[in-house]
Amino acid sequence: MINPDFPKMIELPKIEDDRGNLSFVEQLSFIPFEIKRVYWIYDVPGGQIRGGHAFREQKEIIIALSGSFNVVIDNGINKYLFFLNRSYYGLYVPSGMWRQMQDFSTNSLGLVLSSTKFNPKDYINNYDEFLSILKNERH
Ligand code: TYD
Repeated sequence: MINPDFPKMIELPKIEDDRGNLSFVEQLSFIPFEIKRVYWIYDVPGGQIRGGHAFREQKEIIIALSGSFNVVIDNGINKYLFFLNRSYYGLYVPSGMWRQMQDFSTNSLGLVLSSTKFNPKDYINNYDEFLSILKNERH
């Protein structure tokens, strides 16, 4: 599960127009995986935290389609904080990272493009277990 890949912001196409802007994604070109599932997070009450787990296999792109929120990514060694507030940037989150979404603004809408279908077995919900899996793999 150890993943040497880093989380990173990917700038998406933005077609500017007097009638309004348009952005899009296409799997395997702007998105470095095949998209198997799309879900979105909305109506988050102030102060609530989403995520707070790691995925063994799931890679994802997180886009703040509306409003803003922070995403904290932890690879067991370093923590990275990303502020998402533009609908033409996607945060690429490799598999094997602890990730948490927080500080949602009112009416924010977070879109997640996932490399896997929903599978509860892919979740690691306990932080100590996450660290111990990584530690065991290093030995
Ligand atoms: P969860 O992934 O724990 O949400 P978050 O990481 O944002 O806190 O999912 C919350 C609930 O929704 C959980 O019971 C599983 C269910 N769920 C699905 O049924 N399908 C899905 O694609 C997702 C993402 C969640």
